[in-house]
Amino acid sequence: MSVARAITEKLAMHGGTPVRSTLLSYGRQSIQEEDIQAVVDVLRSDWLTTGPKVDEFEEAFAAIVGAKHAISFSSGTAALHGAVFAAGVTEDDEAITSPMTFCATANAVVHHGATAVFADVCPDTLNIDPPQVERRITRYTRAILPVDYAGHPADLDAIMDIAERYGLVVIEDACHALGARYRGRPVGSIVHMTVFSFHPVKHITTGEGGMVTTDDAEFARRLRLFRNHGISSDARERQTKGQWHYEMVALGLNYRLTDIGCALALGQLHKLSSNVARRQAIAARYTATLSNIPGVITPATRESVDPAWHLYPIRLSNNGTHLDRADVFRALRAENIGVNVHYIPVHLHPYYRDRFGYKRGGFPIAEGAYEQLISLPMFHSMTDQDVEDVISAMAKVIYGLNREVA
Ligand SMILES: Cc1ncc(COP(=O)(O)O)c(C=O)c1O
Repeated sequence: MSVARAITEKLAMHGGTPVRSTLLSYGRQSIQEEDIQAVVDVLRSDWLTTGPKVDEFEEAFAAIVGAKHAISFSSGTAALHGAVFAAGVTEDDEAITSPMTFCATANAVVHHGATAVFADVCPDTLNIDPPQVERRITRYTRAILPVDYAGHPADLDAIMDIAERYGLVVIEDACHALGARYRGRPVGSIVHMTVFSFHPVKHITTGEGGMVTTDDAEFARRLRLFRNHGISSDARERQTKGQWHYEMVALGLNYRLTDIGCALALGQLHKLSSNVARRQAIAARYTATLSNIPGVITPATRESVDPAWHLYPIRLSNNGTHLDRADVFRALRAENIGVNVHYIPVHLHPYYRDRFGYKRGGFPIAEGAYEQLISLPMFHSMTDQDVEDVISAMAKVIYGLNREVA
């Protein structure tokens, strides 16, 4: 349906015909025949859990993001948990992160008995604001966890500058940002440790999975220790004390990724740059068309950053329009456009309010943005028709609702 026609049509939530006959989800995996074959080959091999495909995937991943070490985990959440351990964050410590994220970022800190301290975000990118971070540093602060919201890298140079001045570790939550670049450098090679997720809605998937990249050999050692129960697997010790010998030297978990998952992801990894380019083309088309619709604010991209566009989050402006986010959301879903909202600011969840006393009003930029946000479908296997359907539905819904309230 063309935009010109769509804006004259009755909204599906009022009984009109939806723009699409089937639901377009906001994100999904893209698995090719060769990926399936690679998994089948593993199923016929001797290794199902941690075998040669894990090493192959870690090496290929490290090379793609330009890091010395890549340590795989069973999820992005586990990878965050491991990175906070590797940074040495423990009870009574504090770590500063963004409220505009999935709760796993802050939870990784709390799981180590430390306090998640939030700092408000920049109004344009919704990434953590470096001056706000600096204001929250105390003698207990050990780490900063910037989040590359929607795939747009945070202001990493400014954050590293703060970290160097105060002796802090930077753990970048790049679960949205595989394939992004910051000042020409690939995300994954810039800060002390960078964390990725391979959940199916992300850029590549292992089913569930995650990764930490680092240039630091000691962080890498601690990451490997944590994902394997805290068991040290020093080959020299086994030589001297017997092949059966192992020692548990820290409290870890089983956070290992499987050969099955790594085989699934290896082929996807080699297509990463074309997949990110497709997401960038979709984002460019969205921005060119949606920025002309009154009341719609398209996401900002700072100069010298190439976002990986995990999400495409628009905001609804109240300026001159009277759009209610819940109405727009409901109307788009009725048109079979699978919109979502990222994120309810973490400090507003009951757990964080009850445990740490966070209140509404603490982080006004993140809270204000949350009231206006809607994530539109964004995944690299979207067809051109899928993209046009989203644009038509947006025009239909926004013009339609604006007419109703006028
Ligand atoms: C910003 C962010 N951090 C962490 C995670 C956790 O990753 P996973 O689902 O792989 O555990 C997610 C997942 O959606 C995320 O979006």
